[in-house]
Amino acid sequence: MKQKPISMYDSFEIGNLMIKNRLVRSATFEFGADDGVVTQRIIELYRQLAEGGSGLIITGMYAVLSSARSSPVMVETTYDGYVDDMKRIVDIVHENGSLLFVQLNHTGYKTAKSPGYDRIGVSEQEIAEGYTYLEATPDDIKRIAEAFGKAAKRCKEAGCDGVQIHGSHGYLINTFLSPYYNQRTDAYGGPIENRARILFEIYDEIRNAVDNNFPVSVKIPFSDRVSPSIMPDECVYVCRELEKRGIDMIEVTSGLTMDGGGSSFSPFVKDESQEGSFLAGAAQLANAVGIPIVSVCGYRTPDFIEKALNETAVAAVSLCRPLVREPALSNRWKSDRTKAACISCNRCFMSKGIIACQAEK
Ligand SMILES: Cc1cc2nc3c(=O)[nH]c(=O)nc-3n(C[C@H](O)[C@H](O)[C@H](O)COP(=O)(O)O)c2cc1C
Repeated sequence: MKQKPISMYDSFEIGNLMIKNRLVRSATFEFGADDGVVTQRIIELYRQLAEGGSGLIITGMYAVLSSARSSPVMVETTYDGYVDDMKRIVDIVHENGSLLFVQLNHTGYKTAKSPGYDRIGVSEQEIAEGYTYLEATPDDIKRIAEAFGKAAKRCKEAGCDGVQIHGSHGYLINTFLSPYYNQRTDAYGGPIENRARILFEIYDEIRNAVDNNFPVSVKIPFSDRVSPSIMPDECVYVCRELEKRGIDMIEVTSGLTMDGGGSSFSPFVKDESQEGSFLAGAAQLANAVGIPIVSVCGYRTPDFIEKALNETAVAAVSLCRPLVREPALSNRWKSDRTKAACISCNRCFMSKGIIACQAEK
């Protein structure tokens, strides 16, 4: 019997959760915190996204330590009112039938270059002229992994539906995974088994801090945009190891970039030939593991999205820039399947106060 084609409005499962559709909102920095604290602007952003129909919403990257932020406008998870603030967001998201994951991060070499912030990375590096990050010691790594665990516990206390470890885009974990910056000669450097150790330890800390029923995911680079890069077989190894440990979902993106901005992990998408920029890697991973793989980047048309869902084993796609421009895109596509209005100009990276489309219209 011929199988019914998969629609982007079909539900799918992550761990014990049922996600109402296959349109995930990929983590998107909010530019909206008040020295790490959630603001009303951020709460309203999630109201718009949840009302707009995304099945699963992943927050922007939130710091596991107040000293591990790229700037004061990044939310951090350790301040006193964090759990209450997140409860307010989660309630709004749930009222609209969506679910919320919080993305957790340590910004590594991208940590703010100001007093009071961590000045450590995978290896000693002068990242900006006259500003050197020191090699993280095993004690630093332990402290950071524990902070991920504590942050996840706070997200769970707030009623969030899951968390995502940010393993990509040049932040701390990505720089360990990739040979480009990882020059360590200890148990965290060298072969991929060692380079991925920090990610495994972070995952284990999180899993110990929350129970088995709380979904944990990771956003992982299939390859870097520099050489030497993490290799596809290494990425498959890392994902299989995480699956053995009990991870519930993997979102596949790209990794390190030297361009300083986001054009490598948020490239231009002019026409259908550029849609689904990292789909090939996601599809390969989806054949290698048994847990849901979410493919991010460059999804702009329902036809292409449904082609990806039907022709590969990826469980869902995730979108960032199109939802900056049209937070209700998931609902809009139910009646109007024309292309997302986003022109991927990347001016949203220049947002101030709250993430918003800055395209010249
Ligand atoms: C303004 C902006 C902020 C972003 N912030 C994050 C973030 O906090 N965490 C993350 O994992 N990815 C972040 N990304 C990357 C997106 O989640 C996504 O991987 C990328 O933009 C490609 O998807 P798209 O073509 O749907 O935009 C950001 C991208 C943009 C444009």
